[in-house]
Amino acid sequence: MISLYDHGFEKDVWYEIIITTYSDEGSPHAAAMGCEVVDEQHLLLKPFTNTTTFKNLKERKQAVAHITHNPELFYKVVFKKELTFFHAAAVKAPVLIGADAWVELEVEKIELFDQHRANLVAKAIRAVQQLAEPKPYSRAEHALIECLIHYTRVAVFANTSRHHEAVALSEKIREYVRLVKRVSRKPAHLLICDELLEAIDRLVGRR
Ligand SMILES: Cc1cc2nc3c(=O)[nH]c(=O)nc-3n(C[C@H](O)[C@H](O)[C@H](O)COP(=O)(O)O)c2cc1C
Repeated sequence: MISLYDHGFEKDVWYEIIITTYSDEGSPHAAAMGCEVVDEQHLLLKPFTNTTTFKNLKERKQAVAHITHNPELFYKVVFKKELTFFHAAAVKAPVLIGADAWVELEVEKIELFDQHRANLVAKAIRAVQQLAEPKPYSRAEHALIECLIHYTRVAVFANTSRHHEAVALSEKIREYVRLVKRVSRKPAHLLICDELLEAIDRLVGRR
């Protein structure tokens, strides 16, 4: 039995991955999508129902989720540049070359939750790691590090003639904190958000 927790996924965090599927005519299709772990064997995806990915997932019920931090790979997928694929071993779906790891998936449940989006639960059948410790991309982690970088500048500028820069940076921090709270319920992430907000309130005043 495979565990998603052995492949870098954590509970309560929304990740950005690349999902590949086959279209009607057997051509490989790739799209960037978000996902979250439901339990150690299942991923939740929230595709828009007007996407080719959703259509393929609904019809074929098989896919591959790719783990990468490489913005160039996301870029190539988003801008539909030339990509190289091979067949997955355990499911009828293409594997995209260049990711740090991939998880071969079978769709188990699809529920429409509004006119435009579906909740889709897929079971992890097989996983392959190209890196020893792959980690799926989370906007929360990157936003938190941006916050910490900005915070160090807020602390330097707050009581100086550059106070206005401290205020501008604290606004960026508030914006990133809002993003973190949208994509993570991980207690350690929320604690950092609270401490950041308290610290910038102390330095530049409550908004
Ligand atoms: C990082 C990233 C995450 C995304 N997450 C989702 C998502 O969770 N659901 C979704 O429907 N589209 C998402 N999108 C948008 C789709 O990738 C985009 O609309 C895609 O063109 C639609 O898929 P299709 O090519 O299968 O039609 C995301 C895009 C990016 C760049």
